[in-house]
Amino acid sequence: MKNIADFVAGPWQEFKNGRIVALTGAGISEESGISTFRGSDGLWAKYNPQLFASPEGLLGVLRDEPGKMVGFLDELYSAMLKARPNRAHRAFCELEKQGRLSSVITQNIDNLHQDAGSQNVLELHGNAFRLRCDGCGRLKTLEKEKMAGIIEELKKTEGRRSGVLKVFSKFFPRCACQGRLRIDVVLFGELLDSRILDEAYAELDNCSLMIIAGTSGAVYPAASLPYYAKERGARLLEINTSPSSLSVICDYQLMGRAGEVLPKLL
Ligand code: OAD
Repeated sequence: MKNIADFVAGPWQEFKNGRIVALTGAGISEESGISTFRGSDGLWAKYNPQLFASPEGLLGVLRDEPGKMVGFLDELYSAMLKARPNRAHRAFCELEKQGRLSSVITQNIDNLHQDAGSQNVLELHGNAFRLRCDGCGRLKTLEKEKMAGIIEELKKTEGRRSGVLKVFSKFFPRCACQGRLRIDVVLFGELLDSRILDEAYAELDNCSLMIIAGTSGAVYPAASLPYYAKERGARLLEINTSPSSLSVICDYQLMGRAGEVLPKLL
């Protein structure tokens, strides 16, 4: 089914008393001015993810091309620091308030679901505005103003390695346990927080409809969640501007920008 009005008048009514869970990806925040990852305009078209999204790759960039590291962080954070929730984030929050949406499982690290007011958000890939100790796991909020300051300081180093390292050790100090505080995002090759993943599976155990919005379905284990939900009897609704790897298993597809489609479900 491709027509929004037909979907709203038909299948959507069946889920009135059901349990709805959302899985979101970068496409949800595109209308807030944050780049997606894949595709010709995506972040990974400019920055090789093998280098910029893996722990070993990032260490290599820091060693060999620290200026590129600063450029990457500047590009990533400038957009997130400016971004405000859009109609898609607000629609999910409204569905939760109406008691229809049980939770949002997101791959995004931009905090925009929470900024929109959503209460039950499961962040599979972490949060760019949180620090985590790599020793004891302690979490600490990284305020937006502070992060904006870090980016400014990094830019002042003009990409000199010694300067960049100085800024990192000033703002990402050692924890009391002697571990190092780092930004709490999951890099390629790292494990997801198993408690969050377990909660996501539990959310899908009794789910009648899973809304899959703005994700290419290219990254696992996030992309396995719709399969898990479907095996347990959920129907799948995809909202995307173009077909994804998950389209083949979806029962309903509404093609369009999430910020235009989702408010029509309210
Ligand atoms: P991708 O960049 O892979 O996919 C974005 C999806 O959003 C694509 O399918 C687009 O067609 C769709 N899209 C773009 N604009 C949209 C809009 N306005 N409304 C609806 N859909 C739109 O992003 P993700 O699937 O989130 O992981 O990527 C998954 C993971 O890969 C990310 O969490 C990140 C990345 O590497 C880590 O960094 C660990």
